[in-house]
Amino acid sequence: MRVGKSDYRAVNWDITTGSVQWVEQRLLPHKFEQRSTNRPELVAQAIETMQVRGAPSIGAFAALGLALAYQQDRARFESYWLARFRSTRPTAINLFHACDAMARCALERPLDTQMIDCAVAYGDAEVEANRRMGLYMAELLARGERRILTHCNAGWLAAVDWGTATSGIYQLAEAGESPFVWVDETRPRLQGARLTAWELHQAGIDCRIQADSAAAWMMAQGQVDAVVVGADRIAANGDVANKIGTYALSLAARAHGVPMYVAAPLSSFDAACASGEDIPIENRHESELLCMDGVDDAGVSQAIHVAAPGVQANNPAFDMTPNSNVTAIVSEQGIWMPAKNSNSVSTVVGE
Ligand code: MRU
Repeated sequence: MRVGKSDYRAVNWDITTGSVQWVEQRLLPHKFEQRSTNRPELVAQAIETMQVRGAPSIGAFAALGLALAYQQDRARFESYWLARFRSTRPTAINLFHACDAMARCALERPLDTQMIDCAVAYGDAEVEANRRMGLYMAELLARGERRILTHCNAGWLAAVDWGTATSGIYQLAEAGESPFVWVDETRPRLQGARLTAWELHQAGIDCRIQADSAAAWMMAQGQVDAVVVGADRIAANGDVANKIGTYALSLAARAHGVPMYVAAPLSSFDAACASGEDIPIENRHESELLCMDGVDDAGVSQAIHVAAPGVQANNPAFDMTPNSNVTAIVSEQGIWMPAKNSNSVSTVVGE
């Protein structure tokens, strides 16, 4: 996507230096900065520390990191590096699919250059999947007014390019429509306020940040035409794991007759999980709730404590939305209504 006068991806292979490049998401919206490395361990750490986050971006980034690991330390690719990358985050299945894809590539196309080609192709496929799912989503959204509520960041930063939830919004805007977006701030890390609002603002799309707890009330007021979110893992029955707060949104959407759409590439599906109960939910450090950071009026980064010293916090990073609360799941293959035909993703229609 365009930032200023240039086009960027959240993660990419820099062919001139033979290194992996990424947007340092923790600095946004105050500073747009790309980082690069040719050290696979630093790629793994960038996932752990959420410099790169969002399910499809994590997968594509891990693929690139594994290509570096293969180049530099082939003897330990199987025994160490695959496990090292798999251990970086637990919930987004894209990470594990990417590791599997690179393990297959190492067997079938074992030259260093072929591994890099595989990793680049993996990311390119995610981008094309997002573009295609956006066309399907834009069709759904074009049926009504377009006051869309989204949660977390399921934009291009989270998904290499286009975004998952935002792709349909960007496609509508490119078609000359004027979608409006309610952006849940998304406590505790504020991916909505910091990242999604920044992305939409860059793209000239009208949006307002709101407290997560305002969402149900805005639905009750008839101010929301559709909820559109991404996914970190979708079970075979259509249960959806996504950023904490998505389940509550789905309850409110159901109560107020607002459609609840999930946009996710096939790389976010996990056929090995029969239902959402099988999906591991990441618990993150309590400091994400007990402290906040941002910049002051002089542009200087500041961290502050929110709660009284000694108070503890509970910080599940994801929740699970049952398929019965999901109106439709939109992938690059089309539109699937899991509550209506609940057997498997092979019931996806559209093509
Ligand atoms: O903890 P994060 O920021 O990696 O969580 C990301 C989300 O939950 C996104 O909604 C999800 O990955 C959507 S897919 C772009």
